[in-house]
Amino acid sequence: MADHIQLTVNGMQRDVTIEPGQPLLTVLRDSFALTGAKIACGEGQCGACTVLLDAQPVRACSIPIHAAIGKAIQTIEGLDEAGQLHPLQQAFLDHAALQCGYCTPGMIMSALGLLLQNARPARDEIIAAMQGNICRCGTYPRIIRAIEQAAGELRVQKEGAHHA
Ligand code: FES
Ligand code: FES
Repeated sequence: MADHIQLTVNGMQRDVTIEPGQPLLTVLRDSFALTGAKIACGEGQCGACTVLLDAQPVRACSIPIHAAIGKAIQTIEGLDEAGQLHPLQQAFLDHAALQCGYCTPGMIMSALGLLLQNARPARDEIIAAMQGNICRCGTYPRIIRAIEQAAGELRVQKEGAHHA
């Protein structure tokens, strides 16, 4: 039986009707038209559907929607501010860290989850954190460089805000 619930998506309260057992991914894509999180393996193995739940990267294809109630859901669509790309988005462009782009939103959300926990990750920490995100196009070296650039940019922004 369908159920009415409220979710917090990219800082906004949203009402939605869901089916029992529906995964978070289909609610985001079908009910909210947030199609940045991609459907790929559908079983938690590729990371294309990654979003943040209370700042932790999760595979939206494998999270039952009820597990997202009361938590802050963040998707790639909520990353830019006033039309300004997030440093991770900008860094992926700067390093051409994509080819087909199918893995990119999930890559960026996993990287964001890492940088929220660790502002200065070493290269092996980046590689470990990104292990569950698959890029069929093999752009891994560029992705790692992009994450390093964004980490530096975010630290500069934070220090600037501190001294403002
Ligand atoms: S589609 Fe969710 S992990 Fe692959
Ligand atoms: S850029 Fe094509 S899957 Fe990663």
